[in-house]
Amino acid sequence: MDKKLKLAVIGSPISHSKSPEIHKDFANQFDAKIEFRKDEVTSETLETWLIDFFKNDGKGVSITLPLKEAALNYADEISDRARLASTCNVIYAKDERLFADCTDGYGLIKDLEENLKVLLKDKKILILGAGGAARGIIPSIIEKKPAKLKVANRTEGKALSLKEDLEGKVNLKEKNIIFEAGDLSYDFLLDDSYDLIINSTSISTQAGESLGLPKALFKSTKLAYDLFYSAEKTVFMQDALGAGVETVSDGWGMLVEQGAESFRLWTNLIPDTSRLLEKPID
Ligand code: ATR
Repeated sequence: MDKKLKLAVIGSPISHSKSPEIHKDFANQFDAKIEFRKDEVTSETLETWLIDFFKNDGKGVSITLPLKEAALNYADEISDRARLASTCNVIYAKDERLFADCTDGYGLIKDLEENLKVLLKDKKILILGAGGAARGIIPSIIEKKPAKLKVANRTEGKALSLKEDLEGKVNLKEKNIIFEAGDLSYDFLLDDSYDLIINSTSISTQAGESLGLPKALFKSTKLAYDLFYSAEKTVFMQDALGAGVETVSDGWGMLVEQGAESFRLWTNLIPDTSRLLEKPID
């Protein structure tokens, strides 16, 4: 690579994003020259930003909130995993065409199964939240054939429409997976026990806010995983620890692993994630 590869991360808010540091670490492993922008882009400015970026030799862009669904509209090709998730976190140029992909689910599974050694097959899993973050990871979880997957959301209708959407795309019966959707009421949450609980709600970005989860929810839980990375333990992680869960984890590992998969799509190079996994960037 003689010319600098033009990469970027876009979203709003964006100042907190660690993507530039993560991708610079990857690039250094191969002496690859990259330029990595971090741009504040909203739904209103998304189209003009993408046109301008790719017209000027842009290679790849990481997409974060709130653009993950809207960005799908600007790709010529959508990968199977992005189509199943109805969301994307990467767009890249190849052979004069724009490709959309979703590497979030890949990143989560890699972190859970390889880094944390928690296998999902035959497990009972609860996902809190039914927004874009949940949509991004559910297809990859389903591939691992858990026994049961439950999605609980404050707004029940959103969980139900996620279920309907998924059932239109995947044959869950054939895969022997029980899939349930409901609200955050204790009735729905406590009528089962869960090996793994994943928080996909954006509450972890709202200081001091709590989902008000009952302790009993965590009675069989080995791992509580928050999709949102933050320097401090999130309220969800603190609740899980307080209820006796042995292992809690934030989304740092997923962030690094989804980044590595995005980097591979952009460069055909597979970076080593071990150093970044050990020590989050401050
Ligand atoms: P995104 O685009 O990433 O999915 P979203 O659609 O706003 O963002 O989804 C955020 C998720 O966090 C939703 O599941 C949301 O619940 P609602 O669908 O009821 O809005 C959830 N969420 C955010 N703040 C919450 C809170 N204070 N309590 C419970 N759930 C919350």
